[in-house]
Amino acid sequence: MKFEIKGKRIILRNIGKCDANSIYKHANDKKVFRYTTLPYPYTKKDALEFIPIAQKGLREQTDYELGIAMKDEDSIIGMIALKHIDRENKLSAEIGYWLGVKYWRQGITSEAAGLMLDFAFYDLNLNKVFAKVMEPNQASVKLLQKLGFKKEGFLRKHEKRNGVWMNVIYLGLLKKEYKK
Ligand SMILES: CC(C)(COP(=O)(O)OP(=O)(O)OC[C@H]1O[C@@H](n2cnc3c(N)ncnc32)[C@H](O)[C@@H]1OP(=O)(O)O)[C@@H](O)C(=O)NCCC(=O)NCCS
Repeated sequence: MKFEIKGKRIILRNIGKCDANSIYKHANDKKVFRYTTLPYPYTKKDALEFIPIAQKGLREQTDYELGIAMKDEDSIIGMIALKHIDRENKLSAEIGYWLGVKYWRQGITSEAAGLMLDFAFYDLNLNKVFAKVMEPNQASVKLLQKLGFKKEGFLRKHEKRNGVWMNVIYLGLLKKEYKK
């Protein structure tokens, strides 16, 4: 199943077995893993197990796990997802993302998140997109706030990372607040 969302510099697209190498190469980095739910070390086997799950979510339109590729290269440099989509009630979905370290601080995830938000609000017609960010991950909090997300909640010791309980910041963005 081919699925693509085109932006100015990047494309969000469905992933396949042939992307396992590039996903593994970029995901297998401590800096990427630190505040996500990715395993570490991240192996090619992890990528190969994840790909059919992503494909199933896309087929069933429950979770959109899309690869991020630069327009002029086809290989995947990160992932962005819209998950837990409440299609029936058109209420909400959760956004999550990671990007290969080499590509950080170039506005790539902001562009990817903007494309995903357009899709969530205007194609799926959802009312809200939310994100859950581990407290020390202020880079991600800032990124979301720049897109208009507001802090809504503080979940105490809500997730375990590397054996340590982490507080989680819950951020939300309503369709009526979203500026394209
Ligand atoms: C968080 C992450 C996705 C940001 O990706 P990115 O493409 O570098 O982000 P952008 O370039 O779009 O940055 C947008 C804004 O976010 C903030 N930001 C991003 N990275 C930052 C950093 N390392 N330190 C401080 N602020 C940061 C800045 O305000 C930035 O705007 P600016 O560059 O104009 O100052 C990336 O660092 C990453 O993959 N981290 C590991 C995985 C992860 O934590 N995922 C999120 C889980 S909730």
